[in-house]
Amino acid sequence: MKRLKLGVLGSGRGSNFVALAAAVAEWKVAAEFVVVGSDQADAKILEEAKARGISTWVCPKGNFRTKLEDEIEEELAQRLANAGVELLILAGYMRVVKRPLLSRFGGAMINIHPSLLPAFPGLRAWEQAWKAGVKETGCTVHWVNEVVDGGSVIRQIRVPVEVGDSAETLHGRIQKAEHCLLPEVVRDLAMGKVAWPKDPRR
Ligand code: GRF
Repeated sequence: MKRLKLGVLGSGRGSNFVALAAAVAEWKVAAEFVVVGSDQADAKILEEAKARGISTWVCPKGNFRTKLEDEIEEELAQRLANAGVELLILAGYMRVVKRPLLSRFGGAMINIHPSLLPAFPGLRAWEQAWKAGVKETGCTVHWVNEVVDGGSVIRQIRVPVEVGDSAETLHGRIQKAEHCLLPEVVRDLAMGKVAWPKDPRR
């Protein structure tokens, strides 16, 4: 069976990538990682990728904190395309995605977000939920479009806010849920159990 070629972008710890890599191996998902990219040269996700023998790519940081300049994002998109990425997974990638990535990977790019979208888009979503005093929050995997955290939802897991929770304990439980959700969605996309807006394999 042909394996789905996965590319991952992350800016930090990479715990979602690690959970995904473990699940792909354990569940024998017909998928393989072809590249892991980051905008942060010292991101732990890069170490995790190298430890698994996966190619990595670091793009220059550029002049902005929350987005890449078009030329930099263009080169990133080109690298990912050259590596043969069919599904691009944003797993803790802290830049707003713009036209270069969207024009190549729109319809084949997913993101994991730590809230029940459309509630609490943006940064530190677990803290936003905790401060708002909601009784439950969770995590979401969604397709990426030009609206930050605004693309259509693929699947969510609900996480209750418990009495005595701090923003940090809540975040810990959300991350555990994320580590189940992302692998399940990627497995189901690889198997064609979830419809793709634009499946590059067809
Ligand atoms: C996750 O909470 C994810 O939802 C958000 O960024 C975090 C990344 O964590 N987009 P990690 O780098 O996978 O540990």
